[in-house]
Amino acid sequence: MMNNLSDYIYDLCQNSIHAAAKTITLTISFSNVLMVIIQDDGSGMDEETLSKVKKFEFTTNKHRNVGLGLSMIHDLVIQTEGSFELKSKKDQGTTLILTFNHNHIDFPKFGNIGSIISDLYMYESLDQLKIYIKNGQFYMFDLKQILQKQKTLSIKKYIEENINQKLRNIGVDV
Ligand SMILES: Nc1ncnc2c1ncn2[C@@H]1O[C@H](COP(=O)(O)OP(=O)(O)OP(=O)(O)O)[C@@H](O)[C@H]1O
Ligand SMILES: [Mg+2]
Repeated sequence: MMNNLSDYIYDLCQNSIHAAAKTITLTISFSNVLMVIIQDDGSGMDEETLSKVKKFEFTTNKHRNVGLGLSMIHDLVIQTEGSFELKSKKDQGTTLILTFNHNHIDFPKFGNIGSIISDLYMYESLDQLKIYIKNGQFYMFDLKQILQKQKTLSIKKYIEENINQKLRNIGVDV
């Protein structure tokens, strides 16, 4: 169930992990509109696959006939009068650029984004997760070094708290 924006973001990052990404870069900027960019260096898609995926009728998941993740976020974008852009290059990676009108009545709660992001740190297949949080001024939050040292629950909590605090600083209601 997709209850809040964090659930969607987590689901989309799962796509990157399934595509064998080593690095996921998540950018969140928040002003009149909310912009979320998820970029990965995974397997990417060739042009044919990308065009099928953009019609929301395609999955490489062997347990399903259609993919749900992108179509659900696309629905949310349409509902909240935002924008959806998916770019991908075979063997190079994929970038998803989303904007939302977060004041729209249908916009969900943000949810615990910090927790969702810190969950991703536990994936052994990921080398790096880069988080950029922007609000007019460019602001960067990079936990690469912490990540390389150890993956423990206390570090997960630390990451969660830090990210949520940085998001609160730019006005996100986490
Ligand atoms: N980051 C990505 N890198 C490479 N391919 C991707 C990426 N994101 C999506 N795809 C491709 O698009 C398809 C559709 O993605 P979508 O998230 O809609 O559904 P799914 O992941 O297959 O299934 P579900 O999300 O319902 O579990 C995927 O099966 C995959 O082939
Ligand atoms: Mg998916």
